Amino acid sequence: MKSLENLIIHKPDDWHLHLREGIILKNIVRYTSEYFGRAIVMPNTKDPITSIKKAILYKKEILDAISTDTKFEPLMTIYLTDVTSKDELKKGYEDKVFFAAKLYPANATTNSAYGVKDIKNIYQIFETMESIGMPLLIHGEVTDPQVDIFDREAVFIDRELTPIIKNFPKLKVVLEHITTSFAVDFVQENNIHATITPHHLHINRNAMFFGGLNSDFYCLPVAKREFNRISLIKAATSGNENFFLGTDSAPHMREWKAFCGCAGIFNAPVAIPSYLQVFQEANSLDKFEAFASLNGPKFYNLEPNQEKITLVYDSFKVDDCIEIFDSENVVGKIKTFHAGERLNWRIL
Ligand code: NCD
Ligand code: ZN
Repeated sequence: MKSLENLIIHKPDDWHLHLREGIILKNIVRYTSEYFGRAIVMPNTKDPITSIKKAILYKKEILDAISTDTKFEPLMTIYLTDVTSKDELKKGYEDKVFFAAKLYPANATTNSAYGVKDIKNIYQIFETMESIGMPLLIHGEVTDPQVDIFDREAVFIDRELTPIIKNFPKLKVVLEHITTSFAVDFVQENNIHATITPHHLHINRNAMFFGGLNSDFYCLPVAKREFNRISLIKAATSGNENFFLGTDSAPHMREWKAFCGCAGIFNAPVAIPSYLQVFQEANSLDKFEAFASLNGPKFYNLEPNQEKITLVYDSFKVDDCIEIFDSENVVGKIKTFHAGERLNWRIL
């Protein structure tokens, strides 16, 4: 394959990330803090981040896990519940503790049991958020067991998102980790915003059935049919400002994956090379900086990161797993997305 020139771009941000807590956090945070300037940290920890106090403590735990010479900013979110207090949300936003609020429909995904049971219950919260300019980040899937799992995103858009946008036209909305061409069209037509993960650009739903049931490729929303993946690639590589990078990197210890097949793909160690592979194949390397480093800050009213990074066209083999250490001892492993494959780009 012919050699390609290095790319020099503003350092990317990850606008959707799970860092977990405790020893997992300590072991994995560097894969994000080294390559990204900022990350929106999801609040679905075991004890969810539902208050100012919890967000402050969690941010401190994250910063304590990062080496002091790393310039990385975790952007904290509040986990919305049926009983979220308007005052807490507003104060947390105005004091810059919360950067955004995350809506999980109850039981839609990992650690979402405390999520919102009926979205109408929190319409007053949306009203407050609209008036203070606080972004709403949405896990867009219905949980109705009557709805086929592959249709849950589209049905959510029809049943829940359409009325939200109609009732709160100025609310800053991000539909997270979109998986369907229906979502791509909806986002553009309604001029809202969306994050797109590396895995939804690489796999379709067949991946979950390679060599038997394969939970390595199980995440929520689940990957869909191939035409959806093609539509996501077009959206991400178009440079369109409505779409930006959000890895949804979601580590689970291997024994837990094996035991319960829990949803989530750990892609942080390979996220940037993984996206770049897709942009290269789509002949759109020139659009990568917009997707990774410019569109997000523009939406969130921030400056792009000052620092630049150099991306080198040089292939490497992805390790199967990362080991999780507790002091000196290995206590588990987490499988990495693209395990054992070769990727074409390295970060200098
Ligand atoms: C995420 C997790 O494990 O926290 N899992 C996933 O499949 N994406 C939660 C989420 O974002 O849905
Ligand atoms: Zn997520």
